[in-house]
Amino acid sequence: MDLIKETEKRKTFAIISHPDAGKTTLTEKFLLFGGAIQTAGAVKNNKIRKTATSDFMEIEKQRGISVATSVMGFDYAGKRINILDTPGHKDFAEDTYRTLTAVDSVILVVDCVKGVEEQTERLMEVCRMRHTPVIIFINKMDREGRNPFELLDELESKLEILVRPLTWPISQGQTFKGVYNLFEKGLNLFEANTTRISQTLIRIDDPSDPELENWIPESFCNKLREDIDLIEGVYEPFNEEFYREGYLAPVFFGSAINNFGVKELLETFLKIAPSPGKREAAERTVNASEKTMTGFVFKIHANLDPNHRDRTAFFRICSGTFERNKFYYHTRLGKKLRFSSPTQFMANEKSVIDEAWPGDVIGLYDNGSLKIGDTLSEGEELHFRGMPSFSPEIFKILENRDPMKTKQLDKGIRQLTEEGVAQLFIQHGTRKIVGTVGELQFDVIKFRLEHEYGAMCEFTPLRYHKAFWITSDNREMLDEFLRRKWTSVGMDKEEHPVYFAESEWMLKVAREDYPDIEFHTTSEFKTEGQQKKAK
Ligand code: G4P
Repeated sequence: MDLIKETEKRKTFAIISHPDAGKTTLTEKFLLFGGAIQTAGAVKNNKIRKTATSDFMEIEKQRGISVATSVMGFDYAGKRINILDTPGHKDFAEDTYRTLTAVDSVILVVDCVKGVEEQTERLMEVCRMRHTPVIIFINKMDREGRNPFELLDELESKLEILVRPLTWPISQGQTFKGVYNLFEKGLNLFEANTTRISQTLIRIDDPSDPELENWIPESFCNKLREDIDLIEGVYEPFNEEFYREGYLAPVFFGSAINNFGVKELLETFLKIAPSPGKREAAERTVNASEKTMTGFVFKIHANLDPNHRDRTAFFRICSGTFERNKFYYHTRLGKKLRFSSPTQFMANEKSVIDEAWPGDVIGLYDNGSLKIGDTLSEGEELHFRGMPSFSPEIFKILENRDPMKTKQLDKGIRQLTEEGVAQLFIQHGTRKIVGTVGELQFDVIKFRLEHEYGAMCEFTPLRYHKAFWITSDNREMLDEFLRRKWTSVGMDKEEHPVYFAESEWMLKVAREDYPDIEFHTTSEFKTEGQQKKAK
């Protein structure tokens, strides 16, 4: 098969949102359009529901389901669409951040009643860091939401991205009439309906055309005309290049549950969203069209059944054709590996494949040699960038409760952190500090250490606020900092020094006292440095 043709066919993206904005509903509608599922409700299982923290088994059950649907591939309008699922639960945010490194674009869902929420802002930070192209879908227009202009302003200010509406709502809530499509020039009338698939666009090239009044009441027409005048006056015409560079987000309005605005979104997405292109590796830029296969692992999923201790590594292909049973070079270990049963995920099904292409995400059976961030190539030393660790927000000391099982505990915590369940820092040579973004992870670790490794542990909370990776060209100053702040410093898994700040104020003081030290919020300094320069 033709590598370039296959690459261009692929659209690999994630749908992201603050929990409850409608990510699962929108994913499901996309799958329905693609014919990948037949009934509504099929994706719902994938969601980690609002369970109590202690209800860990329930979460694990759901987590088990979610592995099958972590990647949802389907064909639509001649394209192969790969939707990478991201856990909505905030405690799994790290997992989401890592998944975002494997996509070529995202669709961000915002609730029109709530506007930009906390999780939306944080997800966007990750997208901005990587210049990921973003399309925004303002959902739940069937509810009385905020003023759409106000929402656009909020998107721009809180998400630090320029926006450009491509559809415009005609009222909302009880009186929601539909949207005017500024891109395709036409009217889509709203009708509450959860099953209809296609929607006809009523072509009205010019909103001042009296024809509009045949479809919606005059007062609504006038308001729409006023709004469009304002939009055209305030916003630049949509610039596809700016979108692809990650500076400009086109905005759509709709109602996922009612299947409204979803088709336009999907079709515009197919037109403008990038296919796999370039990827930065530490050594060079890799082009998707290169013949030799390269790719990286961005997620590891362990089988929790103690009788089947296998793991699935999720591997994103960046260039070339991946072939079953071919030897690939594992750059971190410097050895060759062969995969006899790589799997592909199509809708809710998993199957063994012989070949895969750039943009595809495949599951590789792993017996422990793959870690998050690992690169496979055809012999070249290559390390893909953009796979940083982000600062955790909750820190606890890991205490061993059973001295007879020290080895098991060490092995267990090392493997769990390699899977990305949490981050491990070592302080004063022996003290293990576990850092996570959510409390839930501590339950996960405790449970898994006990059930999979036979180790017993306890956690003692620490009052740290955030971790900062520290670097400096001034060796003397760095040494002095490490000496003076020894109670608040540790080493990450790569043995890079990390400063645990107790508060923003402590960080500010440290910055002032040690001006030659750089404090990084992620473990990948170059990316951050480049970002600063770009700003
Ligand atoms: P998430 O994955 O982003 O967390 O959100 P999800 O799709 O599960 O949607 C959250 C809730 O919002 C769901 O209701 C869903 O039915 C509802 N919803 C999604 N899209 C729309 C929309 O366009 N309009 C309205 N009014 N509601 C919408 P729920 O009661 O929490 O769940 P369920 O019982 O409906 O499954």
